[in-house]
Amino acid sequence: MKYCNLHGVNASGIVMGCMRIADKPLRQTEEVIVEALRAGVNMFDLADVYGGGNSEKVFGVAMRDLEIPRKDYILQTKCGIRKDENGRINRFDFSKDYILSSVEGSLKRLNVEYIDILLLHRPDTLVEPEEVAEAFEKLRAQGKVRAFGVSNFSAEQMRLFRAFGVEIVANQMQFSLGHTLPVDAGLNVNMYKDESVTRAGNALEYARASGIALQAWSPLQYGFFEGVFIGNEKFPELNKELNRLAEQYDCAPEAIALAWTLRHPAFKQVITGTTSPERMRALCKAGDIELTREEWYGLYMSTGKILP
Ligand SMILES: NC(=O)c1ccc[n+]([C@@H]2O[C@H](COP(=O)([O-])OP(=O)(O)OC[C@H]3O[C@@H](n4cnc5c(N)ncnc54)[C@H](OP(=O)(O)O)[C@@H]3O)[C@@H](O)[C@H]2O)c1
Repeated sequence: MKYCNLHGVNASGIVMGCMRIADKPLRQTEEVIVEALRAGVNMFDLADVYGGGNSEKVFGVAMRDLEIPRKDYILQTKCGIRKDENGRINRFDFSKDYILSSVEGSLKRLNVEYIDILLLHRPDTLVEPEEVAEAFEKLRAQGKVRAFGVSNFSAEQMRLFRAFGVEIVANQMQFSLGHTLPVDAGLNVNMYKDESVTRAGNALEYARASGIALQAWSPLQYGFFEGVFIGNEKFPELNKELNRLAEQYDCAPEAIALAWTLRHPAFKQVITGTTSPERMRALCKAGDIELTREEWYGLYMSTGKILP
């Protein structure tokens, strides 16, 4: 397993994402956690909104049942997305009061004393950065949260926060062979191509220059949760290349896909969302694979991308 330094903590390159555990049998989730820990995963990613709060509850119960000491794993959760009574997202909220109350709710549902990393889930355009700084300072002083980060932020949004003294250790954003936007623009600077448009807000370059770890979410999905690209007939060349490398590295094609994401120096971590113990075991092999530059570019081009 690869590890990275996340705010002085040795964190696994593969992180278990818990967005999809809310409606799964508890026993199954416990088996996935056991497989992940066995493979060297020491970090878990949640959010207050996953399963309407149920993912945090289920995770808390699973860790209690499994008797995993709190000090033995890194717990990351998020806040800032608000929903209406029908469960539809109706606003983002980075106000001080909301951040503080949301953390109280997460601590209770997770049944823990502290959160290692709190991420602000999606940019709130009405944000007052001073309020965020105050909320973070209070949570840190109370010992309720140890470090902070963001998710789906552009370079300029991270820069704004840092100008107000808000410390950011991580930015979580979508990146995979099915969603290559974070690298496309940097490979096609100053050209009349769709790929030249900076849709990912130059987050990659800013994060690297500022020592902010990027975390990749949905490493096997294409589009916005349109499906998995593995074994999907829409991506014949990509699957051919994934299968070829899987045979070479003696692993599943899924593991090659995760290894591709982790091979990028900006993406220190990949958040896998599988709820299957067998898949978790297979995917974790990615933590031991270092693709060559040629293999990395070969996979990129097998998605249909052309280098200038
Ligand atoms: N910050 C954000 O805005 C944001 C947004 C989305 C997600 N996230 C985080 O990222 C994590 C991962 O997201 P994700 O669940 O969409 O990621 P993913 O790992 O790309 O997708 C996992 C899903 O694909 C299914 N799947 C189907 N075929 C598969 C195969 N061959 N191999 C592996 N999985 C296959 C899995 O089913 P099985 O369970 O049956 O394996 C599972 O439902 C989430 O848990 C969450 O922590 C963050």
